[in-house]
Amino acid sequence: MSVLITGGAGYIGSHTIVELLNIGTDVVVIDNLSNSSLESLSRVKSITAQQVTFYEGDILDKALLRKIFSENNIEAAIHFAGLKAVGESVEQPLKYYTNNVTGTIVLCEVMAEFGIKNLVFSSSATVYGDPASLPILESFPASATNPYGQSKLVVEYILADLHHSDPSWNIACLRYFNPVGAHDSGLIGEDPNDIPNNLMPFISQVAIGKREKLMVFGDDYATPDGTGVRDYIHVVDLAVGHLKALDKLKTNCGLVTYNLGTGQGYSVLEMVKAFEKASNKKIKYDIVARRPGDIGACYADPKKAKIELNWAATHNLDDMVNSSWKWQSQNPKGYSD
Ligand code: NAD
Ligand code: WQD
Repeated sequence: MSVLITGGAGYIGSHTIVELLNIGTDVVVIDNLSNSSLESLSRVKSITAQQVTFYEGDILDKALLRKIFSENNIEAAIHFAGLKAVGESVEQPLKYYTNNVTGTIVLCEVMAEFGIKNLVFSSSATVYGDPASLPILESFPASATNPYGQSKLVVEYILADLHHSDPSWNIACLRYFNPVGAHDSGLIGEDPNDIPNNLMPFISQVAIGKREKLMVFGDDYATPDGTGVRDYIHVVDLAVGHLKALDKLKTNCGLVTYNLGTGQGYSVLEMVKAFEKASNKKIKYDIVARRPGDIGACYADPKKAKIELNWAATHNLDDMVNSSWKWQSQNPKGYSD
């Protein structure tokens, strides 16, 4: 039996595949390589000495999905494939809704055709919008401030309706907080195509000399040092969370939703300081205006995942920044090195 990984050549997918292969699970990947390269999967092979079955193509391609389900004995899917750039989603909302929403619908239609009704979905803490209080519980009201976030929320609603219409579906929506870090080997990590949108890859690129300085978006939030606070979660912890979610699906859990975060928030300046220590480099920065749409602070209450999945983050901030720096310094140009 295999697990289908959509978007498996990407950042979180590749780390999850390593953990799956390490426990002896067969993996089938579909990825259109729109935001990744095949090199990530060849690195996965170097780490695990195991191979995945790879299909290059789009989840919107129903015929290809049918072929994949016909050719493999798939028992569940982990659905990472999606576009994730918030700014781009504001410019090109239809691209985001088509890829993220229609893509998920096509995947679910083909899964249903083949009677495979076990799904783990990559959701996001972005579905909490600007929370009224902290830490954030799964029961908090959902909202979104941009088309990317809206696409995640709409998919969550669609999956809830799907489960309601056919309770034999088992679906885990995992709401990731801020994934950072890289595999211990330094062989796989986050490799943004363009100018990084996210804090951690931006800081890494300043440390390696690719960018001159970081723009810190605002120092007037109601946080201890005025800069934004987030719940950064090591990508390997996140990967392990997916294995726990697959175990949960096997208990016929129905539709479940979990926060995957550490419960601990760090500010932008704390991240800068931690990265300086890890890299032994000075990170130059300027304080600039707030980024539109940003919130002051966001961190999870991760207790539900602890109780129901037996999952908790084990990597601390040093592990996150040290592994990021190892990946960045060993691969200054990412996978194109
Ligand atoms: P990523 O871009 O590295 O990986 C996504 C992968 O999906 C890429 O390899 C891309 O080529 C592929 N893909 C995109 N659209 C596709 C399509 N239509 N058909 C086939 N393949 C397609 O991103 P990631 O950081 O690994 O994120 C994985 C998932 O987790 C995404 O759904 C993202 O929205 C979600 N998520 C990410 C974060 C984060 O900060 N990284 C936070 C919360 C949620
Ligand atoms: C973190 C903090 C910024 C860059 C985004 C998406 C969210 C989710 C994760 C997918 C904030 C500050 C950042 C920079 C900065 N993705 N910052 N200078 O905004 O919490 O979440 O990624 O689901 O949907 O919105 O993450 O890494 O962009 O920012 O000062 O160059 O760093 O203001 O306080 P964010 P981030």
